[in-house]
Formats: sequence, structure tokens, C-alpha cells
Amino acid sequence: MKDQTVLVTGGAGYIGSHACLELLQAGFKVVVVDNLANSKVESLARVQKLAGKTLTFYQADIRDKQALTDIFAKETPDTVIHFAGLKAVGESCALPQLYYHNNVYGTLVLTEVMNAANVKQLVFSSSATVYGESASPQYSEHFPLGAINPYGRSKAMIEDILRDLSASDKLNNVEKPWKIALLRYFNPIGAHDSGMIGEDPNGIPNNLMPYVAQVAIGKLTQLSVFGDDYPTRDGTGIRDYIHVVDLVQGHIKAIAALNGEHFAEGECKAYNLGAGRGYSVLEIIDAFQRVTGKTIPYQMSPRRAGDLAECFANPALALAELNWQVEKDLDDMVNDTWNWQTKNPQGYQ
Ligand code: NAD
Ligand code: UD1
Repeated sequence: MKDQTVLVTGGAGYIGSHACLELLQAGFKVVVVDNLANSKVESLARVQKLAGKTLTFYQADIRDKQALTDIFAKETPDTVIHFAGLKAVGESCALPQLYYHNNVYGTLVLTEVMNAANVKQLVFSSSATVYGESASPQYSEHFPLGAINPYGRSKAMIEDILRDLSASDKLNNVEKPWKIALLRYFNPIGAHDSGMIGEDPNGIPNNLMPYVAQVAIGKLTQLSVFGDDYPTRDGTGIRDYIHVVDLVQGHIKAIAALNGEHFAEGECKAYNLGAGRGYSVLEIIDAFQRVTGKTIPYQMSPRRAGDLAECFANPALALAELNWQVEKDLDDMVNDTWNWQTKNPQGYQ
């Protein structure tokens, strides 16, 4: 498996760059396809420096079928990890066509090119956001789906397309059927412990952890806590935060599983990648203050539309079938976020 070539779409981004580093360190050959719509090529320079190894980078859009076809012909990858996508919920509500075109059409083009090149192993970045409302805050893979915004629906549509694609193999009697892992991420945060790669959000962050980090370093004045009247232990929202390095290890384990016994030919299977426990907004603020010694000014604000009170993973399936579970704790996540933020106050610029 080690000599396999993995083509990573969106590999210059936050999660993709961490995945490239772990893949190089695990002995894979890595080919990145990224249009740099939401990333900088500097992330990949740092990945290669950290790994002491090189990867191949193509600045290309996954919707450009000819470019992608040429890359597949030249690089002959064994497996694809598909991170490329737009991910801002608010922007997806304002620009739904952009999100469906980029995420859904982009995945269609990618899978068409994979089919033509007979590359049939795929690991896809899905999200816990595909789940619908549920009676339990702990989500298992069989829970009903029901995304509530265009970003989430683009992920749910892609999951449907990939399930249909693998089902079609059985009807078409193909020689080499698809094997697809749909990885449903909970809340990825943190950074590589070197502080050389991390999350570099454009403009004002939407997500809690990068916002808190920018308040701590003085770029933003205070945090708004979106709702303190939820039916949770302290009234604020609870989420399952997962260290980005644990998350990308889940992808390496998924590649191993695609090559192993748990993946029957033609299978398309979803796995939660989360820790299996949640922290509230106030617990995150407390941890950040304790670990960094910085005060985080905050004010209570109204609830944010579309937010759940509590959401965390049941990660049992990933443990049973991928042999994966988180290893890092909240202090690691906060420490590594802060290390990245202080070493790179302007991100990759
Ligand atoms: P990111 O924006 O940092 O990375 C995505 C990368 O894809 C960027 O480098 C961007 O330039 C590239 N890209 C976008 N559209 C492209 C296209 N058409 N062609 C080529 N490249 C393109 O985001 P991330 O946080 O690293 O997320 C990676 C994936 O994981 C995304 O699909 C995202 O939806 C999914 N995800 C992220 C989170 C999260 O909290 N970060 C949670 C769940 C799922
Ligand atoms: C959000 C997205 C989700 C996406 C995920 C990626 C929404 C509605 N959901 O999820 O689709 O997959 O990011 O990680 O945008 N909070 C504050 N103040 C802030 C920011 C957040 O109090 O300034 C709270 C939120 O209300 C929530 C928690 O912090 O309770 C975590 O928020 P966030 O980091 O945005 O993640 P999600 O809401 O889980």
C-alpha cells in the first residue's frame, strides 16, 4: 500500500494540507489538484518541508474535465481523497448555484474521469451537517439525513450520487467496482503541532475555534456566544471537536480499509469521524483561557439560525471497521491552534 499514489483534490486547504503531510510521512506518493480558490500554495511548500519529501501539485479546477483527464493519465493514481469543495454555510445560502456547481458538478466530473481512468477507490469529505433532526444528540450513521442549507445539501447530494454510482456497478457487471468511504466529519479544529500548517480562514471566521483564536491574539475584539438558553448543561451549544491530525489519520485508515476485508467490491459506506463527546461554547472558552493564559472577552448573543443545541458522534463504526479513534484531547486542540495562530498571525501571508 505504501507505494500507492493518492490523488488529493483540495490538498492545499486546511484539512487537505494536513492529509498530504500524513500521507507523505506514511510513504504514499501524493498528487494534489487544487484551484487555490480558498488556499495558498505556501501550505504545500510547508508540507514538503515538514515531510522532507516532495509531492506533485497541479493548479487546476476539478470541473475542468480535460485538465483532470490529463492529470489522471500522467499520474495513474490508485486512490482519490476528495476534499475540494466550498464550505461556508452563509455563502452557500447567498450563492446556491455556485455551491451546487462547484461541489456537486465538480464531483460528477471527478467521478467521470475516475471511471474513464478505471480508478475506483474514493474517500470523500462529507460532514455531520448531512444529518437531519434527531431525538438523540449522539449521531449514528443510520440516522435519517436532512441537511438544512445548500452547503449541507450539496454534501448530501454527493453522498447520494456516490451511493448510486457504486450500486450501478452491480447492474453493469463491471470488472473493477467502486469502493467508496464517505467520511462524515464532526468539528475539525487544531493544527499540526509544528505550527507550520493550520487553518487560514478568509476574512472574519464563521467557526468558533478560529474566531476565539483571533480574539485571543487581538485581531477581533470579542466573541459573540450564539445562544445561552439551549437545553444543555450550561445553556450554550455542544459540539464534537476533533483534532485535524486525528481526522486525517481517519483517511489513512480508510485507504487501508478500502484495500482490506471490510470493503466488499462495490461498497459505498459512511463513517462518522468524531470523538464521541461534546464540549459547550463556554467550555471551549474556558479551555482556551486556561491553556493560553489569555482572557477571551465574550458577550451572550441570540441563537444563530440553523444551529442545533447539541451534536456529537457515535464513532463506534469507525473504530470497528477502520480501526480508528481519536488520540488527542481538548488541550492538544487548543495548544496547537494557539501555536499556529501565534506563529502565523497573518496566516500564510
Ligand atoms: P478548505 O477550503 O481549506 O479546503 C478546500 C480546498 O478545496 C481549498 O484548497 C480550495 O482551494 C479547493 N477547492 C475548492 N473548490 C475547488 C475546485 N472546484 N477545484 C479544485 N480545488 C477546489 O476547506 P477544509 O476545511 O480543508 O475542508 C475540506 C473538505 O472537508 C471540504 O469538502 C469541506 O466541505 C469538508 N468539511 C470540512 C469541515 C470543516 O469544518 N473544515 C467539516 C466537514 C466537512
Ligand atoms: C458549522 C456549520 C456546519 C459545518 C461546520 C464545519 C452552521 C450553521 N453550521 O457547524 O454546516 O459543517 O461549521 O465545522 O454554520 N459559535 C458561537 N460563536 C461564534 C461561532 C460559533 O457561539 O462566533 C457556536 C455555535 O453556535 C455552535 C458552536 O459555537 O454552538 C460551534 O460552531 P461552529 O464552529 O460554527 O460549528 P457548527 O455550528 O457545528
